[in-house]
Formats: sequence, structure tokens, C-alpha cells
Amino acid sequence: MPEPEFPERPALAALRARRSHSRVTEEAPDREELEYLLSAMSSVSDHSALKPWRIIEIRGAGREKLGKALAKANGTSKDKGIAKAMRAPLVLAVVVSPKKSSKVPYWEQESVASAVAHYLSLLLHEAGWGTMWRTGDAARSKKIRKAHKLEKHEQLLGWIYVGGVRERDRRVKRRKPLDMERHLSRM
Ligand SMILES: Cc1cc2nc3c(=O)[nH]c(=O)nc-3n(C[C@H](O)[C@H](O)[C@H](O)COP(=O)(O)O)c2cc1C
Repeated sequence: MPEPEFPERPALAALRARRSHSRVTEEAPDREELEYLLSAMSSVSDHSALKPWRIIEIRGAGREKLGKALAKANGTSKDKGIAKAMRAPLVLAVVVSPKKSSKVPYWEQESVASAVAHYLSLLLHEAGWGTMWRTGDAARSKKIRKAHKLEKHEQLLGWIYVGGVRERDRRVKRRKPLDMERHLSRM
């Protein structure tokens, strides 16, 4: 089917070009850039504006701590756990931090945190960084909860691994077109 002739728009272009990067270089956005990108999250659709999310920035020695926790949670060697955490210079743990509300159930609040993870990944991609959202069986384990100092009511949505894009990964990945019969219907 020919592409419809819509004018190109930055959000559309960024989303179409987005891809995950399982391997990245040792460069990473600094705290200032991270704050700048995160400041846009005030625009995420959010019932009652509860802001039910937070991000934990994991770099340097923090990655070692994460790696040890991953090893314990997965029952693997310390080295294997640390190697996992070292796959990117910056790891962002995305936390659903639900607020008490008679109007907004947990699932709606998790949707907001999930949107933050998606938008943040997209903005990082647009800024030229490589990202990959990862979870795994350990993500909701007690050991991982403890390492992240999660409160009882909080849940981890996974980690966004962030780093520089390798030269060989710079080309835009072609995607299979979506089947609109399946994804768009009418009532
Ligand atoms: C909530 C969530 C958790 C994910 N966990 C993993 C994971 O643990 N391991 C993995 O290889 N991919 C995981 N993925 C998928 C990757 O982030 C990525 O989307 C996938 O490799 C496809 O690449 P693409 O984003 O370029 O299409 C997860 C995605 C989401 C949304």
C-alpha cells in the first residue's frame, strides 16, 4: 500500500525511526540532559495528575549493586549478574509509585508509569541515544525490590538501558507494516 501523504512531523518521525539497541557504547546522557528530558513527562496523560511514577538513575558503582542483586535474584554467579547490569553505562529503573485515590485504580496509574517509560525511551532515541527496555523474571523479586529500596506499594516496570549508539546500528530499521484490519476496528 502506498504511504499516505501526511506531512512529516517530529513525533511521528521519531516513533517511526525508533528501535531498541541491545548493545550500546559507554557514552551516556548526563544528569542535566536526563532532567531536561524527564521534565517533558509533566505532559503525560495522567488521571487526577497523581504523577504515580519515579525513575531511579543507576550508574557507576550503582550498576555493580544492581548486578549483585540480579545475580542473587536469578541464582547466578556474581560476575554474570554484574555483566548484565554493565550492558549499558546508564540504567534507568522505572517504578510505578501509586498514590491513594478513590477515583484512579492501580491499573490506570501503571498505565501512566508505562507511558513515561515509552515516552522517555522515545525522547532518548530522538536525542541520539540507544535504549533497551528490559525486565526478566527477577524484576519483581524481593531481592531486586530491596536493592531498589522500593516501598511496599511500589512496583518495578523494568529497566531502560541507555548508552551511545554504535556506528553500525545507525541505519533506520524497516518494520513490517501493521495489519489495520486487526488493529483498527469500528463499533
Ligand atoms: C515492559 C517491557 C519489557 C521488556 N523486557 C525485555 C527483556 O527483558 N528482554 C528483551 O530482550 N526484551 C525486552 N523487551 C523488548 C525490548 O525492549 C524491545 O522492544 C525488543 O527487543 C524489540 O526491539 P524494538 O523495540 O526495536 O522493536 C521489553 C519490552 C517492554 C515494553
